[in-house]
Amino acid sequence: MKRNLISMLDVKEDLDKIINLAIDLKSKSKKGENIELLKGKTLGMIFEKSSTRTRVSFETGMTKLGGHAIFLSKNDLQLGRGETIEDTAKVLSRYVDIIMYRAFSNAAMKELAEHSTIPVISGLDDKEHPCQVITDLMTIKEHKGKLKGLNFVYIGDGGNNMSHSYLLGCAIAGMDIKIVTPKDYWPDEFYIKEANKFGVKVEITDIVNDSTKNSDIIATDTWISMGDEVEKEKRIHDFQGYTVDEKLMKKAKSDSIFLHCLPAYYGYEVTKDVAHGKQSVIFDEAENRMWAQIAIMVTICK
Ligand code: CP
Ligand code: NVA
Repeated sequence: MKRNLISMLDVKEDLDKIINLAIDLKSKSKKGENIELLKGKTLGMIFEKSSTRTRVSFETGMTKLGGHAIFLSKNDLQLGRGETIEDTAKVLSRYVDIIMYRAFSNAAMKELAEHSTIPVISGLDDKEHPCQVITDLMTIKEHKGKLKGLNFVYIGDGGNNMSHSYLLGCAIAGMDIKIVTPKDYWPDEFYIKEANKFGVKVEITDIVNDSTKNSDIIATDTWISMGDEVEKEKRIHDFQGYTVDEKLMKKAKSDSIFLHCLPAYYGYEVTKDVAHGKQSVIFDEAENRMWAQIAIMVTICK
């Protein structure tokens, strides 16, 4: 049966395996070993939104696997002129072996997955960003040697795609998770409910003070996700006080690490001192997009 990755729930059975495979293939490739596990395969990458990391990491990842990737901007596809998602899915399924889709809406993502006969991997939509969170968990494992039992704190927009995927991803990995966000930006109830099924501590709070106490990982993301631009001024106002700064980092464990999926907007969700400081692992995290997606593609194509 074909397999999709559009939610962290799609990897709840084998998240550990994917992370270990990513770490293993990264090490093999860096030693010069051949990792051409998808020789002759083609990845079609549909983008409705901008991207630096997702585009480049998927394309170079596919090259390392011995395959080929095609960049498809929505505006250059007939999809941008009104061809249906259903027909696009059915046609692309006849040419390529995997589709990566960066979509505005989760509904469009699900529609494309429903009509594709090949695997669909989300490169983010308005609800989740699973490839990024698998990457972040891989990065945490590299730095901490484990995932289970760690304390994860996310400060920022609790209702966005990263927050939702963190809720599920941390819970699946056995980590306690706290989301610190203003009351109007609470995560969707669905993700809180699902995270609670994994038996970890899930806390949602609007209180920033001391929220990082005892935490192993502090993460944030932009306050203005792609698609939220019309609310820019309101959001900047609503998120005052939620900037991850040195003061908040000092309250965490002394060996805590800082994560940000990037792009970052310094002075808003995080200060540049923290993002480029000694506890930050944001550039390992950016690199790991490629290794995590290599493992995801290999797993999904089995
Ligand atoms: N983190 C991430 O998905 O970055 P891009 O938007 O540059 O792809
Ligand atoms: N939450 C951000 C993530 C960017 C990679 C957005 O959706 O724009």
